[in-house]
This record gives sequence, structure tokens and C-alpha cells, in this order.
Amino acid sequence: MSTPRAKPKYYLTTPLYYTNGLPHIGHTYSTIVADVIRRYKRMRGFDVFMTTGADEHGVNVERSAIKAGKSPQEYTTAIAAQWRRLWDDLGIPGDEFIRTTDEKHHRTVQWLFKRCRENGFIEKGHYTGQYCVHDNAYVVDAGPGDPCPDCGRPTETVTEENYFFKLSEFQQKLLDFYAANPDFIRPESRRNEVLSFVQGGLKNLSITRTTIRWGIPVPGEAPHVFYVWFDALIGYLSAVGGPEFDERGLWPADLHMVGKEIIRFHAVYWPAFLMAADLPLPKQIWAHGWLLFDSEKMSKSRGNVVRPRPIVSVLGIEPLRYYLLREIVFGQDGSFSYDALVGRYNSDLANGLGNLASRTLTMIERYFGGEIPTPPGYGALGNSPGSADFAAEALTRITQLYDRFSFSLALEGIWELVASIDKYLTIEKPWTLAEQPENRERLAKVLYTAAEGLRIVTALAHPVLPQSTEKIWRQLGQTTPLAGVQMDLLSWGQLKPGTKIGKLEGIFPRVEKSEAIERIEAMEQEQSKAPETIPSTAAPAPTPSGAAAAPAVAPTAKIGIEDFAKVEMRVGQVKSAERVAGADKLLQLQVDIGDEVRQIVAGIASAYKPEDLVGRKVVVVVNLQPRKLRGVESNGMIVAASSGPDGSPVLAGFLEDVPVGARLK
Ligand code: MSP
Repeated sequence: MSTPRAKPKYYLTTPLYYTNGLPHIGHTYSTIVADVIRRYKRMRGFDVFMTTGADEHGVNVERSAIKAGKSPQEYTTAIAAQWRRLWDDLGIPGDEFIRTTDEKHHRTVQWLFKRCRENGFIEKGHYTGQYCVHDNAYVVDAGPGDPCPDCGRPTETVTEENYFFKLSEFQQKLLDFYAANPDFIRPESRRNEVLSFVQGGLKNLSITRTTIRWGIPVPGEAPHVFYVWFDALIGYLSAVGGPEFDERGLWPADLHMVGKEIIRFHAVYWPAFLMAADLPLPKQIWAHGWLLFDSEKMSKSRGNVVRPRPIVSVLGIEPLRYYLLREIVFGQDGSFSYDALVGRYNSDLANGLGNLASRTLTMIERYFGGEIPTPPGYGALGNSPGSADFAAEALTRITQLYDRFSFSLALEGIWELVASIDKYLTIEKPWTLAEQPENRERLAKVLYTAAEGLRIVTALAHPVLPQSTEKIWRQLGQTTPLAGVQMDLLSWGQLKPGTKIGKLEGIFPRVEKSEAIERIEAMEQEQSKAPETIPSTAAPAPTPSGAAAAPAVAPTAKIGIEDFAKVEMRVGQVKSAERVAGADKLLQLQVDIGDEVRQIVAGIASAYKPEDLVGRKVVVVVNLQPRKLRGVESNGMIVAASSGPDGSPVLAGFLEDVPVGARLK
């Protein structure tokens, strides 16, 4: 049994991400949301533990490993290290990073299977069905060759002897459980979807495979291995003690945060597995919506992904966190746009919170020698009743919104406070008050009120903007870490007059929108030149948790000739060229590559005039995933050197004449 805790525990998880690719901002969104909840719950007095990790088995991963010329173990180890490193670099690491290849996870899966079997919920059978390799799922009601309804790829017919989990026996038990726990599945729309799925009847579920080698062995039943969901889901339990979960006292999970496409596995299969094994069930499953790009779900297979590193290198992680939580109504789909991201940054962070902090603190520095002024009557109860009520009301309202995971409304509410303090300063004009000594008391009151309002705003925004609010907190002269502050103990008047404020520094410098977007897009393009590299050496040690998200550039790993051979480069000839509206650096080119004319968007407008390019022979990477730049589809990449301190592009070319379409080797 676990030792009693001083605080109540809160155990939350992100999905365990597949290691057949690297994270894009869709995945980053899930982990950021989980991190916001982790930080919020800590400020509400919980002892919080967060698990993230890697789902490493299955056909897809095996295939990706083969393509990369690696063993699955080698391949997934390298990819999992990159995921882990990204979360560290972004300051959102799990307290545990579980890998489904970990020995402790194997042991837990085998143990859970044994418990389900001993309780009579496992049987052997044959299964023939249409299987979608990409989604790792059988497709019900599909005929041979039918496309997968989710991803559109053709399904494969598979017949094999499997172990089955008797899911059909859990229909009523699950319905009873949902009825007794109305908040188990959130939001309501997903709950309704799951309820109707379960009411429609449940079929037994095949949970082993003999056709796959890359999986956890079923003990004594070779060649059976466990298959996808009776593997990955169990990772949440393996992470916190597995069979000995009682010792850590973290199980059951309080929250599984998932994307909407995997709600069924979490809200139907997972509780059924746990019921069958007589184990406690998680408290809540929350399904968020998708991040869309160009109106479609962002995903690697659609080739429309946005990666987090370029955004973070240009703007930092905090603007991305703020934007995702403020702009997307949690639980619904939301479109990602660079324009809105940078727009929000400038309006809400640079001009909003950043500007409020800077003007308030600069005036305290200038008019009160850097000490928080004493407002008249400070210390007397009801010293500033209007503000006290205002703060109490805001604290209650905003914590309620956080509790419901209504992040965009919570942030909207916090930014209304920012606007009202700003307005107060504009009306009171402390810079004018400072001109007359007889206004000294009034000036003290105004600046105290602004600083105290800023302190409360800073605390409320901390879960979303942990690093910048911590900086403002210190500039307000606070010496204990903001992360340790309990939100329900916050109240008006706690800012002590006489406190020496900290060293002032700008928090969110304004950026020039089109330039920032171009820099991000150029980095994106640069990154997609070397997509998904698998390092041959171990990844460097992670940075300490919560470390500043310094722009992280992956070290250049050596590649084999087979990696180079994957890049198809050809001689192309520019047929036409024009500028891309609204983007100073981009040109839209039509390039003849021998057997077709391709549209390519290239970031070379700073060095080349469109009319000078027509007829010129260039080197084109022809087998890149198509992608959109500023809304224009680009089907390939023009090779250029980046020269000089400003990185100005110089096109690669040939001294001798070469035929259009010739391949470079
Ligand atoms: N391995 C399974 C999960 C097993 S959990 C025991 C899996 N992995 S995944 O790599 O495909 O990650 C899926 C999760 O990533 C989604 O549930 C969601 O949390 C996140 N997202 C992936 N693409 C996304 C968007 N475009 N938008 C928002 N979230 C997205 O499924």
C-alpha cells in the first residue's frame, strides 16, 4: 500500500504517440494541453503526475523501420528519443515517458492478460477481416479491397488465429458505468457518440496477432503477440507501477487526454479491459478536436503538417501555447494559421500583457524608486473594496472556467482584466498625476492598483504562460516561485507596499508579422529538406524539466548512401516565375523537370527577380511531399546555397550544358 499523501493526487496522461514519425503541432497541442492542466492542478493543491510516451509496436512501425534500413528496436529507440527530446526542449516533458518496448510495460501487459484470462474473458478464435494497416484496425463491414473509411487507403484481407477479448460481455456493464459516471466521457458530443456505439452492440475483440513479429509475446503462445490496443492503452498503468500500482498510489488515472479519433478505444475497450481484470477504472476521458491546416486534419499522410520547432525558434513556445489555447475552443476542431498565431502574439502578448507589465513597472521604478507604493489606507479592511470584489469575482469565474477546461474562455476573461487595468491607467493618467506633488497619494493608489491587478492576472495566466508569467512575477518583486502559489489563496491586497521590484526586462518584443511568418516558413522548408532523420547516435541528455525553450537545432547526423539515394534530384528549367502576393521572399515558379511541369514555391525573391529566372536551369528535389506556402501549393524544392550573414540564397547550377530532367547522383 502506498504511503498517504499530503495532497490529493491527480494522475493525467497524453496519448502514447506512434513512433513511425516525428511530432507535428497536432501532437504538440495534446501535450501542451496536458501540461496546462498539470500546472493548473498544481496551483489548485494537487500532487500531479503526468505520463506521456511512445507507442512503438505494430505493422506501421515495423514497415517504417524496414524503409529506414533499421531494426524495429533500433528505429523506435531513435524516434522515441526525438519525441522525448522535443518535449524536453519545449518545457512539456512527462513526469514519466513510457515506451511500450520497456520491460516493465511488457510485464504489465502479460499480467493484465493473465488476469483477464483467469476471469474467463479471453477465448481463442479465427478472424478473417479487412484490415487497415495504416490505422492498425480492422474495418468492420468492409469487403476485400474496400477503402478504409478513415484514411481512404485500400484495406487488406487477413485471416488468422487470434485470442479474443470478450468485449460483448461488457455492453451492459459499460452502459451502467457511463450512467453512474456522467462525466466519464467529455465533451458531451463524444459521450453521446460512444453511448450510441455501445448501445449498438459490441463484438468480441481480437487482441493478438500471429502475422506480426514486432509486438509483445503472449507468454507460452508463440507466435502470438499482443496487438495495438491491448498493448498501448496498458502503458498508462505500466507507467505508474504496473502490477504493483498500489505502491505508487497513482492509479486510477484521473484524466486521459486524447484526440477525438481515439475516444472509442479509451472509453470502451480500456474500461472493459480493466473491468475484466478487476482493476480500478480511470475517472475521465477527455477528447479534444483536431488542428486543421488548409481545412483538413493536420497529418503526416496528408502532407500538411506544421512542425513546432520553426515556430518556437522564431516566436518561442509561450506564444504557441497561448495561441492554441486561446484560439481553439477546447473540444472542437480549429484551424491553424500563421497569420492568426503572429497576430495574437502581437495583440495579446506584446501589446497586451507585455505592455501592461512594462508600463506599470516602469512607472513604479520612475516615480517610487522601484518600490511598490503604499496606497492610502492600506492595511485597513476594505482598503480598496471595488478592486477586492473585482478580483474575488474574477478569481472564482476564471478558476471555474479552468476547471471545465474552457481554456479559451478563461484566457478571454484574463485578458479582459488586462484590458480593464490598461483602461484604468489611461483614465487615471499616472504620468500626469506625477507632475503635481499634491497628487502623490492618488498616484500611489493608481500604481498600486495596477501592480496588484497585474499580479493577479499573472498568477491566473501562469498555467498557460509559465515562463513569462514567472518573469513578470519576479519583476513585481515576488521571491517565491509562482508555480507554488495556490490559486484559491490569491486575494486582493497581498502585494506588500515597500516591496522592491526586480530588474525590468521586456517580456514579449513586438514582431513584424510578415517577416516572422516568412522566417517560420523558411525554417519549415529547410526542415522538410531533411525530413524525419533517424539519428545513428543516442539523443543528447534531456534539458531539465521546464527549461526555457531555446531554439533547438538537431545535430547533423551522418547518413548512409541509401539515405541519400532516397532524395531524387533532377535538372529543371524555369518556364515562368512570379511573386507570391503578401510574401516578400517567395516566388511561384513553373519548372519543367523533363516529364512534367511542376509548380514550386521558392524562398528566393530577395536575391532573384522573377524575369531573370525564366529559362534558367536549376536543381529540383522532386520527391518531396507537396506542401502549401502562403496558400500556394509547392511540388518540390529548388536547391540553393545560403550565403553570407543574411543567408541570402544562391541557386545551384551547372557550368556545362545539361538536359532538362537529368537525374543528379
Ligand atoms: N498510438 C496511438 C495512441 C495510443 S494511446 C494509448 C495514436 N498515436 S498518434 O501518434 O497517432 O497520436 C494521436 C494523437 O495525437 C491524437 O489522439 C491527438 O491527441 C494528437 N493528434 C494527432 N494529430 C492531430 C491533429 N491534427 N490535431 C490535434 N491532435 C492531433 O493514436
